Amino acid sequence: SSAQVQVVVNGYNPTQQISRHIYGHFSEHLGRCIYDGFWVNEGMNVPKKDRIRLDIVDALKKINIPNLRWPGGCFADEYHWRDGIGPRNQRPKMVNTNWGGVTEDNSFGTHEFLELCSLLGCEPYVAGNVGSGTVEEMSKWIEYLNFNGVSPMTELRKQNGRDSAWKVTYWGVGNESWGCGGNMTPDYYSDQYKRYSAFAKSYPNAPLKKIASGANVDDYNWTETCMRNIGPRGMWGITLHHYTLAGGWWKKGPATGFSEEQYFGSMKSCQFMETLINRHGAIMDKYDPEKRVALVVDEWGIWTDVEPGTNPGFLYQQNSMRDAIIAANTLNIFNNHSDRVRMACLAQTINVLQALILTDKEKMLLTPTYHIFDMYKVHHDAMLLPVQFKSPEYSNGKERVDAISISASKDKDGKVHVTLSNCDPTKKIDVNLQLSGYSFKSVDGRILTSAKYTDVNSFDQPDKIKPVAFKGASVSGSTVSVQMPALSAVVLELK
Ligand code: AHR
Repeated sequence: SSAQVQVVVNGYNPTQQISRHIYGHFSEHLGRCIYDGFWVNEGMNVPKKDRIRLDIVDALKKINIPNLRWPGGCFADEYHWRDGIGPRNQRPKMVNTNWGGVTEDNSFGTHEFLELCSLLGCEPYVAGNVGSGTVEEMSKWIEYLNFNGVSPMTELRKQNGRDSAWKVTYWGVGNESWGCGGNMTPDYYSDQYKRYSAFAKSYPNAPLKKIASGANVDDYNWTETCMRNIGPRGMWGITLHHYTLAGGWWKKGPATGFSEEQYFGSMKSCQFMETLINRHGAIMDKYDPEKRVALVVDEWGIWTDVEPGTNPGFLYQQNSMRDAIIAANTLNIFNNHSDRVRMACLAQTINVLQALILTDKEKMLLTPTYHIFDMYKVHHDAMLLPVQFKSPEYSNGKERVDAISISASKDKDGKVHVTLSNCDPTKKIDVNLQLSGYSFKSVDGRILTSAKYTDVNSFDQPDKIKPVAFKGASVSGSTVSVQMPALSAVVLELK
């Protein structure tokens, strides 16, 4: 069976830019994201610079990764940066208490992370330690990173082999301060934020964009209190964390072999992102009608049970066609709310949660989620074209979600791109887009789809799910007709 939907795309005088930083990523000292992910043993037979895996760097450069958040996550609030500088064989070891109790040898520290960012050509986004660190420690870290004049931290950095400051811009003041970052109340945290932030200095040519640790999912009181106490001039952004869960926190379900009920539950949880952005956004509007402060969704993605037989503290999960739909739908939501959402980071880049890349020793594969980021990169820094439509429903008999998600933009060369997803696993949907004022001559497209939502890319079949040319779209003047197959994500280029 099939359904139809009419979409009005407002293509006149776009004023809202989609920040490329919405397409950011997150790499924590957790499981096999850094160690045995980005950072491998000397003996591993893969292209490397120092111990950084270059096949992974190349894959991430291909999707124009705009930023990378580090070192956590919960790890950030037990990380002491001085343990991660200087000769590697002299760095102290520590316990990673959050993630499996493994030994952290600190071989990947500040210099290594910034080298990785420079290889990737992306902006570093560092999360400072508020939970168990001091104001002085955070302040000195910033001096070490960003100051070029005569100072003790400049000296130390030079001794460690780096002459010029890196000029890190994005600075998180704590992480999940309501939870693993210190179990604080919003009043207490916002006072701490002001104290830490007062000594988090902007050095010459290195203005800091300070980001407050924001709400857990629908904790609107957290956002309200921080906006009131810190105020829109005291921060560049405030975060929001929301993970997609198939059946709630205690019933996440598997990453593969899940039921349709679990699939439906994931779609519902994913689409809740829009409600969260609207409601946190409305609170922010009250204190910040000019929208100076960015809503930074710096942890999102699906969280499932770990793969059987793997360390439960490592959060290693497979990545399915379901996850690709979640990414496609969520990124459309972010684009459409890019007036407020100006940065986001998927959790997490390699081998952890909704990963872009999975590795097995020398082998690596690109997940269905990776391919969505590849298809959607056309939106980076493009101008949003707002869309208006009422989506057909996908229902489990009791509840409903939107089957279709769409966003559109115009790039600096005048090309229009539309990304669409259809989460309905059985119904194809005919989408009719109206872009008044345009007269298109051609449409090109790519599609990501698979027979089942449980399908994955495995080390035996790494290319089972990958984008292919899409022939289901046609243009006639200002009208674009798209036949969206069930369970699919599409990108169109209109010229
Ligand atoms: O991404 C995994 C964890 O989820 C992060 O460390 C933490 O911030 C969140 O609870």
